[in-house]
Amino acid sequence: MTTPVAFPCIMIRRADDGVTFGVEQITVDDLPPGEVLIQVACSSLNYKDALACQGHPGVAPNLPHVPGIDCAGHVVTAPPGSDFLPGEPVLITGYELGAPKWGGLCEYVRVPAEWVVSLPGGLSLEEAMTYGTAGFTAAQCVTAIVDRGIAPADGDVVVTGATGGVGSVAVAILAKLGYRVVAVTGKPDQAEWLKRLGATELVGRETVSDASDKPLLRERWAAAVDTVGGATLATLVRSMKHRGVIAACGLVGGDQLPLTVYPFILRGVTLAGIDSAKCPRAPRMEMWAKLSGQWKVDQLAELRREIPLDAVPAEVANMLAGKSHGRVVVRLTEG
Ligand SMILES: NC(=O)c1ccc[n+]([C@@H]2O[C@H](COP(=O)([O-])OP(=O)(O)OC[C@H]3O[C@@H](n4cnc5c(N)ncnc54)[C@H](OP(=O)(O)O)[C@@H]3O)[C@@H](O)[C@H]2O)c1
Repeated sequence: MTTPVAFPCIMIRRADDGVTFGVEQITVDDLPPGEVLIQVACSSLNYKDALACQGHPGVAPNLPHVPGIDCAGHVVTAPPGSDFLPGEPVLITGYELGAPKWGGLCEYVRVPAEWVVSLPGGLSLEEAMTYGTAGFTAAQCVTAIVDRGIAPADGDVVVTGATGGVGSVAVAILAKLGYRVVAVTGKPDQAEWLKRLGATELVGRETVSDASDKPLLRERWAAAVDTVGGATLATLVRSMKHRGVIAACGLVGGDQLPLTVYPFILRGVTLAGIDSAKCPRAPRMEMWAKLSGQWKVDQLAELRREIPLDAVPAEVANMLAGKSHGRVVVRLTEG
């Protein structure tokens, strides 16, 4: 495989009036040092990438920066004796890819070998990126619920930000496992799509946004996957059934959590924090085995839209405006 002299990426740069980003050409010599060089077939868009494109200091502290926390493609070079062979299909989600190191919205990435995962059997590169970090996070959220003993017979499982990347994959996996899924969405026009993914009932965001200071609300949910945070998460914690479990992974609605201890000490509610970037290797491989095996989402093609690299800026604007739905796969090369 010959590496081209120059190849495209999304580059974020500081400008006089803030931050700009768009497609630029770079060379292999521009890439950060690393052990494995990968030709990227596709990447995906996550909320974190949208934050990077805004120059968010927690995600992209050093500009110029190439975003993209996911990628899937083929190994070009790997150190002798490593686990990877040239031509092997692989994927990366998380670690420092795209935040703070240069990421996968680029035709090539060069990374430490420990970040690289062999493409699981049963998944194409496009399917791996349909999941991406969002799907990987959804799998961890569902695992947190299942492993804490919540069964379908225990009651409804609510998913917030249901049309988003994490939310939509979580809806599909939970439905596949037999749970009755209540999808919280601000997009009633996507009701049919959410039902096709497996949602049983749809409710508006106001259903899980209680502004009162009551320490406990009516018991409603056996479990929850929350991508929103803030007042929504605080409402969910107060609305859980006895011994209910919430997998909390996001903050699109806010990072504050106004609560008392009563849901925890009177109802035994579990608030399970979910982190995907630093997920250790063993549970990481376990998640990919589930996503490519027993939990493989039947509607992956329906979850995904594919865009070229030069459509990323418009798609990022959509995502920041809360208008996107499902997963966006970004095509870099045919593979
Ligand atoms: N902890 C981790 O490791 C991890 C990993 C991945 C993602 N995340 C976080 O999880 C969240 C979701 O990520 P994503 O990639 O799924 O993002 P996304 O695709 O942009 O989806 C977010 C969804 O949240 C809903 N939403 C947007 N703004 C909202 C608001 N102000 N109030 C309530 N709901 C709102 C929308 O769904 P509806 O219109 O259907 O309501 C939107 O589609 C982000 O905060 C992201 O940073 C964390």
